[in-house]
Amino acid sequence: MRTPFVAGNWKMHNDLAAARDLMKGLRAEVAKPTGVDVAVCTPFTLLYPMGKELDGTDIKLGAQNCYFEPKGAFTGEISADMLKAAGCTYVIIGHSERRHVFGETGEMLKKKVVAAQQAGLHVIYCIGELLEERERGKTETVVDQQMKEVLTPDLDTSLLTIAYEPVWAIGTGKTATPDQAQAVHAFVRAKLSGIYGSDVANSLRIQYGGSVKPGNAAELFSCPDVDGGLVGGACLVAGDFAAIIRAAQQSAGK
Ligand code: PGA
Repeated sequence: MRTPFVAGNWKMHNDLAAARDLMKGLRAEVAKPTGVDVAVCTPFTLLYPMGKELDGTDIKLGAQNCYFEPKGAFTGEISADMLKAAGCTYVIIGHSERRHVFGETGEMLKKKVVAAQQAGLHVIYCIGELLEERERGKTETVVDQQMKEVLTPDLDTSLLTIAYEPVWAIGTGKTATPDQAQAVHAFVRAKLSGIYGSDVANSLRIQYGGSVKPGNAAELFSCPDVDGGLVGGACLVAGDFAAIIRAAQQSAGK
């Protein structure tokens, strides 16, 4: 049985005051969620103060990216060890904005995943196709390639979550239908089984991401291979994020 996992991806949003307000709201709604794992992935500059805000809750802290070298002359970068020291449990790697806005390649992402796990961070590894790839019937080819480039047998699967995020659904208000999401999630799990064996594949969480909202979360999370979500826009409103967390709680044991 997999525990659903909901992570909020703040992206490049919130100053310190807004972040504190959001955390206050979240603490009031779901300080100690049961039957679901919850994380908030904040900008680097907010990690330390948000870690303090989360003290005494069961909500974990995450980052949205890291560099693969441990230290050195890499102006502007942040290492996985630095994230760990700032209180992070999780790090998102391979988000579509990193791939498509910042040109991160499979080769770089593989190094980042390895570095993050070596630092003891749990990786949320994102995969997903562009609209034109879906329209050309290439969804499975694309996600398979993104998995092959990074998900090698040597990884620590106890520190791994996959997030399937169709790029055309991110921040667009267009969500994959539950059937579309389930079809890709089942494909991803079958591929994971080929790499890690069926026991591990059945234990790994595969989050759905892309315009998850309180109004569609329950339906998406009820799909057999959807184990919670990676939530962007809706995680910036405490009540909406809490409603999504509750939808995940209710999907547990499905
Ligand atoms: P969204 O973002 O929920 O705003 O679509 C999801 C994500 O990019 O992780």
